[in-house]
Amino acid sequence: MVMEKVINKGLEGVVITASSLTSIDGQVGKLMYRGYLIGELAEHGTYEEVVWLLLNGELPTASQLDAFRAELADQRTVPDGIVQMLRMLPQGADSMAALRTAVSMLAVYDAEAEDLSAEANRRKAVALTAKMATIVAAFERVRTGHEPVAPRKDLSHAANFLYMLTGQEPDATSAHIFDICLILHADHEMNASTFSARTTASTLSDVYSAITSAVGTLKGSLHGGANARVMEMLQQVGGPENAETWIKDALANKKRVMGFGHRVYKTEDPRATVLRKLSKELGERLGTPQWYQISRTVEQEVLAQKNLYPNVDFYSASTYFMMGIKTDLYTPIFALSRIAGWTANLLEQYADNRLIRPDSDYVGPRERSYVPMGQRA
Ligand code: ACO
Repeated sequence: MVMEKVINKGLEGVVITASSLTSIDGQVGKLMYRGYLIGELAEHGTYEEVVWLLLNGELPTASQLDAFRAELADQRTVPDGIVQMLRMLPQGADSMAALRTAVSMLAVYDAEAEDLSAEANRRKAVALTAKMATIVAAFERVRTGHEPVAPRKDLSHAANFLYMLTGQEPDATSAHIFDICLILHADHEMNASTFSARTTASTLSDVYSAITSAVGTLKGSLHGGANARVMEMLQQVGGPENAETWIKDALANKKRVMGFGHRVYKTEDPRATVLRKLSKELGERLGTPQWYQISRTVEQEVLAQKNLYPNVDFYSASTYFMMGIKTDLYTPIFALSRIAGWTANLLEQYADNRLIRPDSDYVGPRERSYVPMGQRA
């Protein structure tokens, strides 16, 4: 007798663990890291404070934050072998494939890679948070025929990344906007890439393997890959006057409009609220208001025609574009922020582990006899 199994496709509503990291109320559009509202963290905090908060549970004191900034800055350099590998990649290599490969490769340079103790894993969390930014910047430098820019210890995580990307120290406003973007993307409860990371760790595999899984999962266009696709859409729409027809056609052709909809939020994603404002202000400051205007009109059309709200990927696209960042770096940038949440989740997973091993409902042929080769049709 075969037991009937209930299929929960997409694992919607399935609770796989208790966590004290991030909470979401999707009905009212509330997101909190360790009980702090995302809007307040974005307004008053820094990325370094948020990483500390995620890893340690409390906001840092001034001296804890100073020490943590120094610890991160000390970890920014990546092994030469990683840069050599980036140089060996063929022209046109996918940016997330490059990041995924580099993250995986970091393991072989870390003598503690296989040490699953809490202390070693915390150290790896900090090292990965520092180094992923260096890797993404080095990838961009190398593929454009430039030398990687060595990290600076005196700059914040956000400012140092922009500096390594361009070779120019960013102005305070750009660094601040980028810092806010990093805060907004730092963690998001049991999303697909975090689940991947936890699943890999639950086999008692190492942190680098778990983060490699997470990067691969974030890459998809239904998850972190959506931000780059949003920018392609905004460019195709071309102007606010085209938005209504463009969206109508896309929906009539059963296309997904990137940057809209969410498994958890049934109203506006609070990160989109912050990013909408940033996109608008940046456009006004730089004299390029059209990207915000197109985005806003697309948003109104998608709401009117499909009742869907923007998610974090929607306004981050125009914001990064106006900051002069190449479209295919948006998802790697998402990853270099989300590393904080991924690693904080891994610390929780290792501390209270049980193998993650779901089930499937077999619907193939029932038991049958092996057919010898000569008798097969
Ligand atoms: N455009 C058009 N239709 C959509 C969209 C969208 N962006 N999002 C959901 N829908 C529709 C689906 O077509 C489906 O309609 P149907 O019932 O008529 O077939 C219905 O809404 C439910 O969609 P599901 O895919 O079942 O909902 P789910 O909760 O799995 O989807 C997801 C969440 C994948 C994010 C979806 O909204 C989507 O594809 N959005 C576009 C991609 C995107 O922006 N991803 C980034 C999400 S945020 C993040 O990961 C960082």
